This record gives sequence, C-alpha cells and structure tokens, in this order.
Amino acid sequence: EKGGYATFMAKEIDEQPQAVADTLRARSDLDGRLVLDEMRLDEDVLAQVDKVVIVSCGTSCYAGMVAKYAIERWARLPVEVEYSHEFRYREPVVGPRTLVVAITQSGETMDTLMAVRHARQLGARVLAICNTHGSTVPRESDGVLYTHAGPEVAVASTKAFLAQITATYLLGLYLAQVRKQMDPADIAEVMRELQAVPDKVQKVLDGSEEVRRIARWMADTRSVLFLGRHVGYPVALEGALKLKELAYIHAEGFAAGELKHGPIALIEPGQPVFVVVPSPHGPGSVHSKVISNIQEIRARGARTIVIAEEGDDEVVPYAEEVIRVPATPPLLAPLVTVVPLQVFACELATAKGLDVDQPRNLAKSVTVE
Ligand code: F6R
Repeated sequence: EKGGYATFMAKEIDEQPQAVADTLRARSDLDGRLVLDEMRLDEDVLAQVDKVVIVSCGTSCYAGMVAKYAIERWARLPVEVEYSHEFRYREPVVGPRTLVVAITQSGETMDTLMAVRHARQLGARVLAICNTHGSTVPRESDGVLYTHAGPEVAVASTKAFLAQITATYLLGLYLAQVRKQMDPADIAEVMRELQAVPDKVQKVLDGSEEVRRIARWMADTRSVLFLGRHVGYPVALEGALKLKELAYIHAEGFAAGELKHGPIALIEPGQPVFVVVPSPHGPGSVHSKVISNIQEIRARGARTIVIAEEGDDEVVPYAEEVIRVPATPPLLAPLVTVVPLQVFACELATAKGLDVDQPRNLAKSVTVE
C-alpha cells in the first residue's frame, strides 16, 4: 500500500499537490464566491463573530499560526492561536460571539477535544477543521470543514498540514465574504492563486534532489536552527518539529526578528541554519530584514541554507545553499516553503537509518491528556 515508496511519509509528501487540490475542490462557485454550506454555521451567526480563537496541538497549531496572518488580513477579525492544552487551563475570554476553530488531523486528540468541550460550555461556536470523517472532534463541534488529504499513516504530519492551511484560507476568505471585508473580485483572485498552488508544490517536489543532497551532508549534525518571519515563522517551527520527531536532532525554530534578542548567541562557526526568506513582494520590509539576519549569522560562521523564491537574487551572496521555490503570493507561501523542510527531515532520518513512519515515543493520535 506504500505504492512503490520506501515509507508512507515519502508517499504522503508526494501526495501534497493532490491534498491541496482536493481540499479546494467544490468550495467556490464559478465566480470564485466561497460556498461552504457544509460548515453548518449560519452566515448570520458568522457575521456576528468578533473574535476567532484557534485551538490545536503540534503541527496543527502551526497551521493555526499561519491562519492568523490570513484571517486577520482578509476578514479583519482578531485571531488568537493557542495550544489546546493551554486554552483549557487559563480563563479564556470566550463567549457567544467567539468562533473557536479546532484544527485536528485525527479528530481524536484528547487535548483538543477537551478544549472544544470547554469552549462550548463557555457558549462559543466551535468549528472543527479535520481530516477524519466521523471522528470525535467534528462530532462534538457545531460545524466542520473537512480537509481532504486522504488517510495519513505516517506519524509525522505532512499532507494533512498543507490541507489544514488550505482549509483555513478558505475559512478566512469565507469570513471576509460574509463580513463584506473583501471585494468579491479580490476573493476570486485569491481563489485563483490558491488553485495554482498544487502545481507549484509539484515543482518543489520535482526539484527536491538538491534538498536530499543537503540532508545527506548533514546526517551527523547535532543541532539545526530554523528562522522565519511573518508566515515563514510557523514554517520555521514546523521545520524544527519535523527534524526533532524524525531524526532526533536538536532543532529550534525562531522568529527571525527575535534573533538579536537572544538566539544569535547560539551561532558559532559551522552551525547549520535554515532561513525561510519572505517573498520580496511581502508586507513592509520583512524581506530586507531577513536578508540582514542571514548576513549577520553568516558573518558569525553559520552554514546558511536559504529557502527563497525563484528570482530572489539578493539572498545569494550570503547563502551557502539556496533552495528555490516558485514565486507565490506572500500569504500563501507556507504551502510551498514548508515542503523542502519536510523532504529534508525525511531524507536525513532515512540517511540515519531511522524508522521514518514510526518515530520512537510517538503515536499517530494522542488520545490522552
Ligand atoms: C507532528 C504531528 C503532531 C500532531 C499533533 C496534533 O508531525 O503529527 O504534532 O500534529 O499531535 O494532532 P491532530 O492534528 O491529529 O490533532
């Protein structure tokens, strides 16, 4: 059932263009208007929402962090992102006008289920974003938006992550539509850009030999750092998590802007650092700021492995390795920039002879609190 692949994870990484395409399918009409009746949440209720709180764990939480940038930008609603297990034991300010979004691949994560129950007790509407039909979290939620990644067998999440991010974009655009915060033509334009993503992911996969080569020279590395900014920040966190889980290598993800506030002290000659470079067309001057970060760590001897858009040549002088991804609108970039990091972790773990599909100490769904 691995269809010729050595591992489920390798297969699932390759299924990502399909996972994104399937999650987008039949969710907009010919004019690019979002049609999400399946969510079972009244448009009137959604129009009244004054805050979104996303609860989830692990990789799903990083999808939530990406969602925050998109939903705030498009729907002009404040979005909080929180680990499910922390949400429950604070006294969250949540009520009938809060939309709580529980993101969970399995739908069985106990921490997230408990957060859902807590949110409903507080009177919030709960929407599940879930990959598993009929699982517990969607059953206990007010509504559900399914991701269509297909069954994910490898313990480490890959294709479900891309599908989750895609679903949160749909939600963000839908909220923008319901709240009349975006011109229908602009919503249709983002939908067109989203439809173009599967081919871009495929291009990254087709060009991944370079990443595999880098993974092989790094097989003995004891520590890897990941930097990102804006939507690249959760991508950096995900890159680090994949490496910890699969290759048992100490890895940390940082917001690039935070570097000078402490983590730069970690940089010593030979330290590998992945940098997820924001699109040059992104907001403000984050691109040039990240270029400065690369320069700073390079000057201290870091081995810089830079993930950058095709045509972004400013990165070249400070990069030991450049991994290219197709140009993608800034908010949608995580769908392409995370892919090399998944391939990297998978390849490095394989090079170390580890069980990629079943890493030690981990279970596919965590059904205890
Ligand atoms: C990481 C991973 C975990 C899960 C987390 C949440 O590769 O798989 O971090 O993302 O346990 O699981 P779900 O999404 O099923 O609630």
